[in-house]
Amino acid sequence: MREITPRKIIEMKGREKITMVTAYDYPSALLADKAGVDIVFVGDSMAMVIYGEPNTLNLSVDTVALHTKAVSKAVKRALVLADMPFASYEISVEEGIKNAVKLIQAGADAVKIEGGYDHRKLVKRLVRMGIPVMGHTGLTPQRYLRLGGYRLVGETEEEIEEILRDAKALEKAGAFAVVLEFVLTDVAKLVTEEVSIPTIGIGAGPYVDGQVLVWHDLLGIYENSPPFAKRYVDLRGMILLALENYREEVKNEEFPGREHYWEFLDKDDFRKKAQRALEKLEED
Ligand code: KIV
Repeated sequence: MREITPRKIIEMKGREKITMVTAYDYPSALLADKAGVDIVFVGDSMAMVIYGEPNTLNLSVDTVALHTKAVSKAVKRALVLADMPFASYEISVEEGIKNAVKLIQAGADAVKIEGGYDHRKLVKRLVRMGIPVMGHTGLTPQRYLRLGGYRLVGETEEEIEEILRDAKALEKAGAFAVVLEFVLTDVAKLVTEEVSIPTIGIGAGPYVDGQVLVWHDLLGIYENSPPFAKRYVDLRGMILLALENYREEVKNEEFPGREHYWEFLDKDDFRKKAQRALEKLEED
């Protein structure tokens, strides 16, 4: 069992901020864990940042499971959370359970679903059978067609009510935390005060219990990052520079340098061995 459990995440509320970052492969997950991040999240954002899809609607559970397997092998301390992709839990509770089990069997410690109130029965069943669940309200990218695009939510009374209803339903159903995405900070603060489970914000301001960022946004790899994401390093620029340097050095015959290859010190020895090898090949 990893050090960070859902119970520990709950205990952090009001005591210390929770850190969460997405990771989709073994080397990234190793680094996230080494950096001491609390939750390593195999998010469905992989559809866009890894697979180049225009949205998150076209991702299978099996693909998330494959990435979860790689992440799970790397993480020793953090909680490994896997995202349930679009249409993997909306059709029926039974289908949702079957797909959540796949992610747990791939190595996740918990699963995340988008929504709250609408999925309270599923959350209850999963928790009862021992699968910890994180909910997600505010901007729910899997419903972006209905929302009319990726936009700030929580301005209207109806939206505030929906966000609160989701968070409270998740708390009641036994979820251990809830993501609040791209909501007005006043709404995020209200929800954080209204529920006993931790709120993890993304584009929701500082008055939440934790923060989550997408790997590619945080490291400056992705071109189309949302406005609320902070870029901690310009890895895209660094990677591009390294690739251009590599290309140029090969073209200019500077790479490989003397330290990157090995040769026979005794050239006569090499000539004899090569001669014999060539003769043997001719005999065959
Ligand atoms: O898939 C994802 O990366 C997410 C985060 C934006 C929370 O759901």
